[in-house]
Amino acid sequence: MMMKIPLLDLRAQYAVIKDEIMLAVEEVLEAQYFILGPKVMKIEEEIAHYCNARYAIGLSSGTDALLASLMAINIEPGDAIITTPYSFFATVEVIIRLGATPIFVDIDPLTYNLSTDKLKELFEKGEKKPRAIIPVHLYGQCAEMNDIMTLAREQKIKVIEDAAQAIGAKYRENFAGAIGDMGCFSFFPSKNLGGYGDGGMVITNSPDLAKKLKSLRVHGVGDAHHYHMIGGNFRLDALQAAVLSVKLKYLDNWTEKRRHNANTYNSLFKEYGLCSIQTPHSLPENFHVYNQYVIRASNRDKLQESLKAEGVNTAVYYPIPLHLQPCFSCLGYKKGDFPEAEKASRETLALPIYPELTLKQQEYIVRKIAMIKERRL
Ligand SMILES: Cc1ncc(COP(=O)(O)O)c(C=O)c1O
Repeated sequence: MMMKIPLLDLRAQYAVIKDEIMLAVEEVLEAQYFILGPKVMKIEEEIAHYCNARYAIGLSSGTDALLASLMAINIEPGDAIITTPYSFFATVEVIIRLGATPIFVDIDPLTYNLSTDKLKELFEKGEKKPRAIIPVHLYGQCAEMNDIMTLAREQKIKVIEDAAQAIGAKYRENFAGAIGDMGCFSFFPSKNLGGYGDGGMVITNSPDLAKKLKSLRVHGVGDAHHYHMIGGNFRLDALQAAVLSVKLKYLDNWTEKRRHNANTYNSLFKEYGLCSIQTPHSLPENFHVYNQYVIRASNRDKLQESLKAEGVNTAVYYPIPLHLQPCFSCLGYKKGDFPEAEKASRETLALPIYPELTLKQQEYIVRKIAMIKERRL
């Protein structure tokens, strides 16, 4: 019998937490305090504590968290920022919005994160000195932060972690986001900790950066209507904060389920002898939180189509690497510049990995993949 399996099942999650969410939302409605305020301060304290960081600043989205972080270190037109060509659009969009220039470094083909060997090569060339690096912890696994931090400290440049997909992930026991100078989270509903709308946060151990971010999120205001810098409206709202405080209590349990589901997939792929499919590669230093479980297959598009016909929804993140996006053509990159990112864009496919996914559903998905592969022989 055909099963219908979504990529993510937020309704199943909501069914479990509905009563608590309703109470939390009602509290906000009763208080009529909607922007920043006590609920936002509460989730800021909770996330700072959870990630072992000194400060957390609630912001309107992950994109605004990245933008405000760059503004907090005074990124200006002409500055160079190193990042990956294989990420969500926002990682690079924010650099360009400030008039700065992204310098792409190709990815590691196993983890899909910034290749630190390529990063070293770039520094050895010693071209224009960058102001910062934005490593992205893609799919829920940290980039190689040890090497990145060592190189950044040697070069005296800042590190802003794009941890939008990686809340709760760890690199050598350090939480994603709390390793660099600032770390940015997204609370987009599909993230491991998702709100009921847009939301984001920056964590940092620097009191100066925390103070600046708090000002930047309210247009750059200082004391009593005095503006000494230009920020934006980057505020987190109380309804999102209230929802996030409820959901944070469940995060570790959901993460364990995601990790369990990843192990189950790994075993099933082995059991079915599907060795032409590359399963996610998690480095021993990493505690992977599997925002996505991404496999790699040479006939990816056909596989996705056939799975859809069998009732299984999957997703392609990201079919076009950032250096080849039409709106970035002014940067002068061309096809072939970052072969690993380009190959990943052609071959990767995200399977359902949400915490409520059942063993039966996982068995169905892998069985169907095996059947689709066999049909092609
Ligand atoms: C890697 C990455 N960076 C940045 C963002 C932007 O976050 P948001 O959608 O909350 O603006 C996202 C999420 O969509 C993301 O996955």
